[in-house]
Amino acid sequence: MLDHDAVLEAVSPKLAIERVEDGLLRFHRGEWVMPPKVYLDSPPYGDFRAMPARGAGLAVLKWVTSFPGNPARGLPTVTGLICLSDAGTGQPLMLLDARSVTALRTGAVAAAASRALARASARSIGVVGCGLHGAWTARCLIAAALGPGVCHDVDPRSAARLADELGPGWRAGELADALRCDIVCCVTPGTSAVVDVGELRPGLHLNMLGADGPGKAETTVEAVAACELFCDEWEQASHGGEVTGAVRAGLVTRAQVTELGAVLADEASGRTGPDAVTLFDSTGLAIQDLAVSAAALEAWRAGKVEAQTVRL
Ligand SMILES: NC(=O)c1ccc[n+]([C@@H]2O[C@H](COP(=O)([O-])OP(=O)(O)OC[C@H]3O[C@@H](n4cnc5c(N)ncnc54)[C@H](O)[C@@H]3O)[C@@H](O)[C@H]2O)c1
Repeated sequence: MLDHDAVLEAVSPKLAIERVEDGLLRFHRGEWVMPPKVYLDSPPYGDFRAMPARGAGLAVLKWVTSFPGNPARGLPTVTGLICLSDAGTGQPLMLLDARSVTALRTGAVAAAASRALARASARSIGVVGCGLHGAWTARCLIAAALGPGVCHDVDPRSAARLADELGPGWRAGELADALRCDIVCCVTPGTSAVVDVGELRPGLHLNMLGADGPGKAETTVEAVAACELFCDEWEQASHGGEVTGAVRAGLVTRAQVTELGAVLADEASGRTGPDAVTLFDSTGLAIQDLAVSAAALEAWRAGKVEAQTVRL
């Protein structure tokens, strides 16, 4: 059993980015499989998600939450467990803390999308929403040699804390300062739009991470429709992601949204030019969890990290 700290010791942001890129590619090629995630509402508090995937001789099930009111109660928004099993025998191999795996794979996919979709010269990073996943997104982008930039949060203390941690060149700022950066990562709870059409500038790349379930959005539908669109996986993105509102409004069709895996596989192009505005819609995939969990299992097998043991 790997707890939160053991997962982070086992898998660095750099390794997480490599493995998540590889997972997206394998999923695109059909080598890894992933049924749709199942939402179980727990009104009025939040929801549970069951997320299975199979690949690399392993099968994974993540049982994870999004409880937006938790921070006010001194608890994290996202908690849960991952069960990693042998895909040949069905036997459970490892239980992992889901919070750390989720944070790593979410930051990692933002880094992967930025590498594939942002302008080659893009460096500065705007982080809008400096909670747990905003922080890990920034850490992963730094591991991908991007940054520094501006941290913005409705709670200025969160923005200042993150900017201090990230180091030289990083500063806390207003929303407008963050939105002027080359790559903008939005990681708010998705209850109100933080990006509108007027904020879109030539060359901008947006990573939209906060809208990972039905009813959430961080941009207006008009802003979504004005971008070149990419997503992690179309079914999830069109039903519970940033592009959902624009799809429902008839402003965006399937043909306008490219999956990141297709770009990584060189089967689709990324941005059409340096002045394009690109938007990556991350809803969070079980194959990302599989990629990071598999790396953690390997690290344990190689003796790089200690695990706790339980007899079931
Ligand atoms: N795409 C994915 O794979 C993925 C993975 C995990 C979490 N998420 C989603 O990301 C979001 C953030 O999760 P978290 O765990 O970091 O939550 P969190 O509560 O730790 O952080 C959210 C932060 O956003 C700030 N915020 C709220 N409204 C804002 C606004 N309008 N402008 C600027 N900042 C604002 C809050 O003050 C807080 O600091 C949630 O919606 C969560 O479900 C997505």
